Amino acid sequence: MSILLSVIYLIATVTFIVGLKKLGHPDSAKNGNLIAAAGMGLAIFGTIFIHDLQVPTIIYVLIGIAIVLGGIIGWIIAIKVEMTKMPELVSLFNGFGGASAALIGVVEFGNNNIPATDATIVATILSAIVIGAITFSGSLIAWGKLNGTLKSVVKIPQYNIINNLFIIGIVVFSGYVVASGADSSLFLYGLLAAGLVYGILFVLPIGGADMPVVISLLNSLTGIAAAVTGILYDNMVMLVGGILVGSAGIILTVAMCKAMNRTLGSVIFGSFGASAGGEEGVNKTLGTIKKTTSSDTAIMMNYASNVIIVPGYGLAVAQAQHVIHELEELLTAKGVNVKYAIHPVAGRMPGHMNVLLAESNVDYALLAEMDDINPQFNNADVVLVVGANDVVNPAAHNDPSSPIYGMPILDVENAKHIVVNKRSMKAGYAGIENELFYNSKTSMLFGDAKDALTELVGELKNM
Ligand code: TAP
Repeated sequence: MSILLSVIYLIATVTFIVGLKKLGHPDSAKNGNLIAAAGMGLAIFGTIFIHDLQVPTIIYVLIGIAIVLGGIIGWIIAIKVEMTKMPELVSLFNGFGGASAALIGVVEFGNNNIPATDATIVATILSAIVIGAITFSGSLIAWGKLNGTLKSVVKIPQYNIINNLFIIGIVVFSGYVVASGADSSLFLYGLLAAGLVYGILFVLPIGGADMPVVISLLNSLTGIAAAVTGILYDNMVMLVGGILVGSAGIILTVAMCKAMNRTLGSVIFGSFGASAGGEEGVNKTLGTIKKTTSSDTAIMMNYASNVIIVPGYGLAVAQAQHVIHELEELLTAKGVNVKYAIHPVAGRMPGHMNVLLAESNVDYALLAEMDDINPQFNNADVVLVVGANDVVNPAAHNDPSSPIYGMPILDVENAKHIVVNKRSMKAGYAGIENELFYNSKTSMLFGDAKDALTELVGELKNM
């Protein structure tokens, strides 16, 4: 490799690390993204034009066409995608990363330059194929679950045993192919198919509320698949980029496990949640709900000292991030102490609420993590829950039969008054009833979050 190319790869590697560091804060995240993207562009340029690829000109033309087409499609999707569709888009892109690694493995297995007897290389290729295939099919299922196409958990009888036997089978068979030096495309495509099937079996039975853990794990697998192909090509940029994505994904997975109070083992070796997807059905035994209006809520808030706002997925659906910021500024101007309580899995992607509120320039200092805000609910005069449901569901504490049992939640019940804004009595992502709505301290402010908050702001302005 030429010195120039090594320098380019080094610069690209540094931009990935700097970019990732900057992604840690909303203020610097945009720049971090641009810096890492520029580094990636540089690495691609270096690989195509400075690397001695020794390929016919037509290959350069095909690469050019692929880059232009992919760039245009990616650009259009990124411009057009609604904020609420971002999580499923990320899942889809994740899957494409896995598919790329698997395809590289398939191509290189038949490459004459790679001896089938070199166990390390064959093991690397098979890892790329299997991990890439699992990531691809698993991410497609996650995409379907996030956009609501796959509404409920598909229950496969004894799936735990089947899944675990399946993955053990894949590992043992891969070991056999490596050890025997068997150069058969039948084995190759068999492993590719097995990886694809396992990805589906792995994600399909995961319960609604537990999807965040799976999504982070798939994210991490994409990085690992890319790192494996980096080893295959002895390419530092691919290796470092893959390791960064893989390790960041693992850290996120551990954080999500902590947020859901699950173990990583229970994610990998058996699903844990039981239901998914917004089924209605009100449990009559929970009692009756109390409705409120924006004017009554405005009066309550106007005379409060401490208000905590709990944003959830519905805030993103309604695109009410700007009006909620207006509400917070208005209350602050009236001398009310306002904070936002952020649950780690609120919304549909890690950090969803942070990103959403950053979009409307909410002061980052007002955002309080779950562990910090939970002891403060005792002192809150009013808690305004906007489009959140599962993350405030007391069943996580009280009902051992609930699929979200054990998941830490925001303890809004401890506040003096709770106002819940949502459109109906429909369930949240986990598809379960929420007894908080029937609590004697709770009032329901029905309506789309943007409309309800706009009315609330109007009422407060007139006070
Ligand atoms: P959810 O439990 O999904 O509840 C959202 C609520 O928002 C719904 O009950 C819905 O009720 C309401 N809503 C929807 N559109 C609205 C609108 N326009 N205006 C007002 N309200 C609206 O949300 P959450 O509390 O944020 O919890 C997140 C859930 O998603 C958890 O179960 C989590 O495990 C899961 N999940 C999270 C992630 C990540 S990484 N964050 C990924 C996948 C899944 P109505 O229909 O009655 O309005």
